[in-house]
Amino acid sequence: MPVMRKWNKIAELQRWRLGLALLTMALVMPGTELQGQEVARSIVVSRRVVVSDSEPASRVGLQILQQGGNAVDAAVATALAMAVTFPEAGNLGGGGFMLIYPGGNREAVCIDYRETAPAAAHARMFAADDSQHGHKIVGVPGTVRGLELAHRQFGKLPWKRLVEPAVRLADEGFTLGAPLAAALNEVVASSAAFPELRRVFGKHQGRERWQAEDRLVQKDLAATLERIAEQGSAGFYEGETARLLAAEMEAGGGLITAADLRDYRAKIRPPVRGTFRGFDIYGAPPPSSGGIGTIEALNILENFDLKQQDRWSPRTMHLLIEAMRRVYCDRARYLGDPDFAEIPAKLIDNAYARELAQSIDLDRATPSETLAPEIELAGEGSDTTHFSIIDGEGMAVANTYTLEHSYGSRVVVRGAGFLLNNEMGDFNWLPGHTDRRGRIGTPPNQIAPGKRMLSSQSPTIVVREGRPVLITGSPGGRTIINTVICVLTNVLEYQMPLGEAVAAPRLHQAWFPDVVRFEGVGRSEYAKTVEQLSALGHAIEPKPPKQGAANSIWIDQKTAQISAVADPRRSGVAAGD
Ligand code: DON
Repeated sequence: MPVMRKWNKIAELQRWRLGLALLTMALVMPGTELQGQEVARSIVVSRRVVVSDSEPASRVGLQILQQGGNAVDAAVATALAMAVTFPEAGNLGGGGFMLIYPGGNREAVCIDYRETAPAAAHARMFAADDSQHGHKIVGVPGTVRGLELAHRQFGKLPWKRLVEPAVRLADEGFTLGAPLAAALNEVVASSAAFPELRRVFGKHQGRERWQAEDRLVQKDLAATLERIAEQGSAGFYEGETARLLAAEMEAGGGLITAADLRDYRAKIRPPVRGTFRGFDIYGAPPPSSGGIGTIEALNILENFDLKQQDRWSPRTMHLLIEAMRRVYCDRARYLGDPDFAEIPAKLIDNAYARELAQSIDLDRATPSETLAPEIELAGEGSDTTHFSIIDGEGMAVANTYTLEHSYGSRVVVRGAGFLLNNEMGDFNWLPGHTDRRGRIGTPPNQIAPGKRMLSSQSPTIVVREGRPVLITGSPGGRTIINTVICVLTNVLEYQMPLGEAVAAPRLHQAWFPDVVRFEGVGRSEYAKTVEQLSALGHAIEPKPPKQGAANSIWIDQKTAQISAVADPRRSGVAAGD
């Protein structure tokens, strides 16, 4: 074949291959437009970005931004897409907190869409050995009302446009990556008692194992999302979806009724605010302990010149641990749903933080037992997801939402295709029972009808001179606050580049159990740190699990470059342009 013809043939073949690749992408990612965007675990872009635990969802969020939507529009579309593509934590049947920094002259707000206890719930409804799965542990879901409220306050694009990508992903299906295929196989194998979960999330009802590149289609979920697209939150809290949910509860002995659903309201709350080294910190208010916990810790730490010593020096690590210990003790003492419990204002007060800082012995770990003598101590796997977004106008969203455990209560609403949370487990469910293993029984977070259970979700936005510079948050239950404290300290105090700050080994101390988890354990470069901390009297856990997944954004104020990092502990993706 003459060279030219051969070349043409190759070029044609390449064009054909490219066409096929684009077609495949379009099929894999329904509704995705390809517009010079970057999609990777870690990216630097100039205009806008979405970073989440799910690639198709990050793409949906970016697509909404490219269609003229703002960060809240993108957050709503991303959250709904994740309810399809990241079923372990993305949800319609759970709840969370969306922190919004609108920019311009508008005030930052937090949309509290935390679940509530059903009207029939009461303080002593659980026994110590009750299951974390099943119908009884489900709280009234808040997600759909929360997303609708955020959209009503700030959205630009029509609601339906934001729901449509999720409908398509559920209806036409999407391609499973290896981590999701493995997670689905695991939950299906361990859910013999939950046939609807096996039917909806099992390959051939669990008779076969999912492989990477298989396609997950969710027709019932698509129909539910379609009702939400058409009717807004009424498509979830009333009509067919509510009927199916209430019937599921009745059949399984759960407490949630049609009236609980109809009466559920998301709330707009002012964020908790603090400062650290000249940065303004915005965090999630009660019923999350996230904002107060983070700001209380930073206030304590601000009393010390941490940077005098290396980030991994025993002094810095000791101070972090002691700040965490005091914050988690106060969390147990004081925090709960602010509509039911009085939250002392002093917790984020600098004078109070100074007192706490002075109570730290620089040469010795403080035994947790000594911090709250008034609390009598009795003898005694999980999942969430955080995404961060910034749009081209500087509006920032930090959103954390959850089913509580991975795949929540394992209850899938028959005929509606979505999982329900097991969030009632976040209440102090044994009144009066606080123990050294970390169970808390203090009054502010005991169950009452209509009450929101205390959360640790910590969507956080850091602002300098009115402009967002850092957007972060994480899953990880009680560890969340400490994950955020680590990321903030790494970036704001030690000026680590975002990728390093997110990847760096994390620390966790939560008052009780009186132990320290440090991800650096077992790594030679941190052996000395661990040894020195032990010498100060800290009990270091020998095999710490991975801590959190802080999908974060840093906006460099000098260069205006936007860095986005999906936490390497999970398989998330940033999509931006
Ligand atoms: O709201 C909370 O604090 C918990 N329900 C979050 C659970 C969680 O993060 C589990 N994650 N990995």
